[in-house]
Amino acid sequence: MQDRSGLALQVANGHLRLLDQSQLPHAETWLAVADVDTLIEAIHALRVRGAPMIAIASALLVASRVEQGDDRRAIFQAIARLRAARPTAVNLMHAMDGLAADLDTADWQRSVVQAAETLTDTDRALCDAIGDYGAALVGYGERLLTHCNTGALATAGIGTAAGVIRRAHEQGKAIEVWVDETRPLLQGGRLTAWEFGKLGVPYTLIADNMAAAMMAAGRVDRVIVGADRIAANGDFANKIGTYGLAVLAKYHNIPFAVAAPHTTLDPACASGDDIPIEQRSAAEVRGVNNAAGELCWAPADARVANPAFDVTPASLITHWILDTGVFGIDDVAAGVLKSGGRAFP
Ligand code: MRU
Repeated sequence: MQDRSGLALQVANGHLRLLDQSQLPHAETWLAVADVDTLIEAIHALRVRGAPMIAIASALLVASRVEQGDDRRAIFQAIARLRAARPTAVNLMHAMDGLAADLDTADWQRSVVQAAETLTDTDRALCDAIGDYGAALVGYGERLLTHCNTGALATAGIGTAAGVIRRAHEQGKAIEVWVDETRPLLQGGRLTAWEFGKLGVPYTLIADNMAAAMMAAGRVDRVIVGADRIAANGDFANKIGTYGLAVLAKYHNIPFAVAAPHTTLDPACASGDDIPIEQRSAAEVRGVNNAAGELCWAPADARVANPAFDVTPASLITHWILDTGVFGIDDVAAGVLKSGGRAFP
């Protein structure tokens, strides 16, 4: 494998290292990832996260295991275990299925390594295209609102929703951004704020329950979020809290866009009802345990629900921003999401 580097990912001399996102913004700690157990733990603990990034990191680890000499059976098992590491984001499944198919080729070692490299490089280009298409929607001086983290930490490139925002900023559109903190794991407060700070994107951090008041006060012009899986009918799963924002945006007549690469489309899911939702541990809601410290504010035995994602129905979405263009509900009804985001199959 050739050397590569991104904000949260490095390949050097065939070895993979990931920025431990659970430690941000307090510490920039790089994690050497040489085996499947280490990567699965990192995925579960959200040291590496974001739909495109978990797919890319998994593919690069498989490629590095191939280069280390693992046999086909071991690689097959690695792919199967990584594929099951997080259930909602479909990018991981698409990537692992692609590598599994490469195992059937005569020159399988070369095919797998090449496929992992192509996935990484292509993701960069997909992010650029999403950024360009999405930024064209954004008007001068708009106040945008986003949720979770969809930037360079979550992809190999500039990101999806955050990539759109970054491009609009770079184009001199004088935007301002409301960043939802994104309870329970605070990807907005810890990660998006950190990324936008580094980029000089003007942002203001808010607790999730402040979005409604900001919209009612006329202080939000557009909502742009990412996706973990987009069903054929346009419904999509994203970080918990996204659906609430979409309902609020509809009520306040604010455009609501989802931005994602075509690798996040899942034509096998007819609607959002078919998307599996990851349920996470009670401790994440009872308190916090990250680089800032550990604190449990709820009774230690408090009953907790912790779905990590929710589903936003297509009826609440005004724009689907893909790497192939910007689509509306009529395009979705005509089947654009069933054909990889190509308007004319
Ligand atoms: O649980 P996370 O932090 O992996 O959730 C991430 C999101 O919900 C993102 O919006 C999505 O994966 C898109 S990242 C480009």
